[in-house]
Amino acid sequence: MPKAIRFSEYGDADTLRLTDVPLPEPGPGQVRVRVKAVGVNGIDWKIRKGFFGDGEPLRSPMGTGSELSGVVDAVGPGVTAWRAGQPVFGRSAHRSAAATHDLAAEDDLIAKPDWLTFEQAAALPIAVETAHRALRELGVSAGQTLLVHAAAGGVGLTATQLAAARGITVIGTASDRNHPFLRKIGATPVAYGDGLVERVRAAAPQGVDAVLDASGRGVLPDSIALAGGPDHVLTIADVTAAEHGVRFSATPGPLTAAFEEVLPLLREGGLHMPVDSVYPLDRTADAQRHSENGHLQGKIIIKVED
Ligand SMILES: NC(=O)c1ccc[n+]([C@@H]2O[C@H](COP(=O)([O-])OP(=O)(O)OC[C@H]3O[C@@H](n4cnc5c(N)ncnc54)[C@H](OP(=O)(O)O)[C@@H]3O)[C@@H](O)[C@H]2O)c1
Repeated sequence: MPKAIRFSEYGDADTLRLTDVPLPEPGPGQVRVRVKAVGVNGIDWKIRKGFFGDGEPLRSPMGTGSELSGVVDAVGPGVTAWRAGQPVFGRSAHRSAAATHDLAAEDDLIAKPDWLTFEQAAALPIAVETAHRALRELGVSAGQTLLVHAAAGGVGLTATQLAAARGITVIGTASDRNHPFLRKIGATPVAYGDGLVERVRAAAPQGVDAVLDASGRGVLPDSIALAGGPDHVLTIADVTAAEHGVRFSATPGPLTAAFEEVLPLLREGGLHMPVDSVYPLDRTADAQRHSENGHLQGKIIIKVED
């Protein structure tokens, strides 16, 4: 019997239940994936807690999980790009990836190369697309200096390595224990908190051309001061962006453009996505608690099947 994690009311991680569900049927342009692994993201617990629920109670049970890897199980009408048995990774159609079977739009899947494990592949879609989009929207280029907030998180470490590979100098904020890690991935580490502006100026006497805020923890005023104006700052996590005249990047783009650049980098070792921890499907609640507590170094993965 297919199984999926569901919740029937907004709330803490205890609301998540492993439930028997009908096999999802792929509609036109959709693919059903037999799930091997799922990447955990902040958006999973933000949705579960009702942050986007407009104060309305949940009308029907919801799944959780935005990204997955697995094997194509069936294709819907009109799908020609995929056939049963192909290993893939990508985005879930309905944010319900924490399951034995899930649906994805055919364009939201990428063929999984043999040199990536299913766990490594499930860690990539959201962080890679978001980092790739953020760098494009910021318009930073070789020779410039970029400040990345929360540079040790999934999006931050991807943006850091992608920028470094493009010849951009990266300053990254992280807690102290992540500073050696940031140096390893090509960033100059700086601690959060009081005195941030002075510390960044000392680390980047040439000045900061652009700032990516992947922390969402009140860093926009300092970022505007460092970059010389809100136009050079982009946040993916701070809902007060508009109050500061800063752009909030929220609309996902295609995976294909991002992975055309990132897959060769991953293969050559120019980009590495560490897996912070792995949980089985029936411990999805613990995986989300871990994500909620933060201070990760890479991605949390839910392993569904070997
Ligand atoms: N708008 C979009 O399209 C989009 C897409 C993806 C993600 N997001 C959002 O962007 C943010 C980053 O995503 P992510 O996947 O990179 O997150 P993540 O992997 O969970 O990383 C978050 C990082 O935040 C840092 N952090 C800073 N202050 C912290 C604190 N007080 N408590 C805990 N952690 C703290 C942690 O690093 P240290 O341990 O070094 O502090 C951690 O590595 C999330 O808010 C997520 O929801 C938005």
